Amino acid sequence: MKKSDNYKLPSLKDAVRRRRDPEAEQKEEFSLPLECKDLGKGKTFYIRTHGCQANEHDSETMSGILKEMGYVAVDEAKDADLIIVNTCAIRQNAEEKVFGEFGAFMEYKRKNPDLIIGMCGCMAQEEKTVERVLTTYPQVNLIFGTHNIYRLPELLYKAYHTDHKTVEVISGQAEVVEGMPASRKDKHKAWVHIMYGCDKFCTYCIVPYTRGKERSRRIGDIVKEVKALKDEGYKEVCLLGQNVNAYGLDLDMQHGFADLLEACALTGIERIRFMTSHPRNFDEETIDIIAKYPNIMPQIHLPVQSGSSAILKKMNRGYDRERYLSLFDEIKAKVPGACFTTDIIVGFPNETEEEFEETLTLYDHCQFDNAYTFIYSPRIGTPAAAMEDEISQEEKEKRLLRLNEKVKYYAHMHNEKYQDQIVEVLVDGFSKKDKNVYAGYTKGGKLVNFTANHAEVGELCNVKINVCHSFSFNGEKVED
Ligand code: 5AD
Ligand code: SF4
Repeated sequence: MKKSDNYKLPSLKDAVRRRRDPEAEQKEEFSLPLECKDLGKGKTFYIRTHGCQANEHDSETMSGILKEMGYVAVDEAKDADLIIVNTCAIRQNAEEKVFGEFGAFMEYKRKNPDLIIGMCGCMAQEEKTVERVLTTYPQVNLIFGTHNIYRLPELLYKAYHTDHKTVEVISGQAEVVEGMPASRKDKHKAWVHIMYGCDKFCTYCIVPYTRGKERSRRIGDIVKEVKALKDEGYKEVCLLGQNVNAYGLDLDMQHGFADLLEACALTGIERIRFMTSHPRNFDEETIDIIAKYPNIMPQIHLPVQSGSSAILKKMNRGYDRERYLSLFDEIKAKVPGACFTTDIIVGFPNETEEEFEETLTLYDHCQFDNAYTFIYSPRIGTPAAAMEDEISQEEKEKRLLRLNEKVKYYAHMHNEKYQDQIVEVLVDGFSKKDKNVYAGYTKGGKLVNFTANHAEVGELCNVKINVCHSFSFNGEKVED
């Protein structure tokens, strides 16, 4: 790490500093600098994406930028002149996967010394990780953070014109940049960022440090994007934010998430989804708007994290068991037929058996359609990582298994009700497992594999359910 004088490492301490910026309405507009226009001519790129939908869409944005620079996408890392790894820092095992990949890319660098290997995303915001990459993975020569994607052309220019490593990570203030091109993976469904960052500071979570403070896009910019997608033939949009219910709170705007949802519904696009919801900011107005518009999908992902009020307090979730249950019951009553999913962490520091059992009883009450369940993973720099923890890893693993039994039980119970029913499916293409079978999702977000004489990607078709599995269905298209 000799050449460290030409860059500054990221800092989780700086990242935690929040201030409301009265000028936050001032957004930057992306433009491709002249000297970068043909930088990618005759070169290929490959982006590996880890983590959440925000990363998926960030990768689509980077693809769009790279294509504007003349780069051509390839399907395999070994064929690329530029490899970018878009990383996730949410749990330790996500990070280990990335380090494994850097090891594997070593061989490509040996064969092609001009190869540029870049790391971006949440791991790039952690000083410990960047230090480790700089010292142990010399093949990585470009590092940039979650706030610097719009700077990719300049950073690549720098990387091609210097022997030094190019490292640019902003840990403090970050703004919203509009007008970035996106090369979307699909032509029928699209991710749309509505806000960036998170200000909730759940004590276990690294995201508020790696993605910065909450910054909402202007409602006009978002609705314009949704309209343009609809005009291009897109059938579905998924509105993205770490906490979509806090949309607009950071701006001096009259508009909140409910207004945004309604404005998007009024564009007439066939399907609207949104994620992730936080129980803390989920208001009644939003529930009423979801219930009012048939093109807002009845799919509610509402992470609970724990069923114990004591643990929720230690997690700094800002609600207790009772508040979560009353919100859940209210949504369920007002949005009939809604499919509910959740996120749960087991083995938070010193979680007792009784506290864990409260998670199980909450699950029995809510009977979720599905859940994403995790063993707590300490993240350096977060308050929970400094908490005492006497619970063994073995016990945590047992709890995860017990919880997953319940997840499967209720998933199956819900899915059984679909036997012989006809559901509307938006066709994604062929099933991953069988190229003779089509696949798509119901309004509630359930996966259906089905046979048909013919189906088009992006078609909304009716499918009769023949077999109900716990996490998917088999069916056949109802031909017109
Ligand atoms: N350990 C385990 N799971 C975590 N999550 C976030 N941080 C951690 C952590 N440190 C889970 C939460 C969140 C989901 C995206 O990841 O359940 O909702
Ligand atoms: Fe992490 Fe909590 Fe923010 Fe979700 S709401 S990103 S869990 S801090």
